[in-house]
Amino acid sequence: MKSSSARVSYVLFSLLLVLLLSAPSSSADLIEKACRLALDSDACVETIKSFPESASATVPELAIIVLQLASQKAVNVTTHINTLLRNASSLDPIVYQRIDECSVHFQDAVDMVDNSKAALSVQAYDDVTRFLTIAEGDAAACQDGIRSVGSQDLVSELATFNQSFKRLCNIAIVITKAAKLVN
Ligand SMILES: *[C@@H]1O[C@H](CO)[C@@H](O)[C@H](O)[C@H]1NC(C)=O
Ligand SMILES: *[C@@H]1O[C@H](CO)[C@@H](O)[C@H](O)[C@H]1NC(C)=O
Ligand SMILES: *[C@@H]1O[C@H](CO)[C@@H](O)[C@H](O)[C@H]1NC(C)=O
Repeated sequence: MKSSSARVSYVLFSLLLVLLLSAPSSSADLIEKACRLALDSDACVETIKSFPESASATVPELAIIVLQLASQKAVNVTTHINTLLRNASSLDPIVYQRIDECSVHFQDAVDMVDNSKAALSVQAYDDVTRFLTIAEGDAAACQDGIRSVGSQDLVSELATFNQSFKRLCNIAIVITKAAKLVN
């Protein structure tokens, strides 16, 4: 399992290397090439280009930009979850418990994104990826917990957050891998 996923990421690394080196790149080119490895390439390009500073940013700077966004998103999700928890009296106890667990998961996600920012600042790219993967897992665990109690409204409400947070983590991972290569 571990070695096969290592093999897959080796292949992805090589592919990315080829993509990155295939032409002298403007920043826009670089973004498009790096984003080809994202789960949602269009969202990746769109997200990064929405930052004016991305036009002149280096790849490691792009990674910082995306991490800041992921960090903001994780904090927003946590805030939203806490708002839900404040409404405890209107919640089924088991639903309350799941949301409470989400609160713990997302607090961990906030920490992981912070850790990944610290790791990025010392170019510890593999650590950045490792922390972000844990953060993605936190989002997944929250979602699975909510889904298991079948609260459809909450599922769809938190799903939007879940998706955008997870997507940001994925974009940050892809850009981090590109940063490692060009470093
Ligand atoms: C976080 O919430 C603030 C305030 O509602 C909003 O302005 C910002 O765009 C949100 N950030 C993200 C990444 O969703
Ligand atoms: C809190 O519960 C009330 C009553 O069920 C509901 O109308 C309101 O939207 C809830 N607020 C939040 C933030 O979920
Ligand atoms: C939330 O994220 C998890 C983990 O990435 C994913 O498996 C799940 O399908 C997502 N849930 C929704 C409702 O999008």
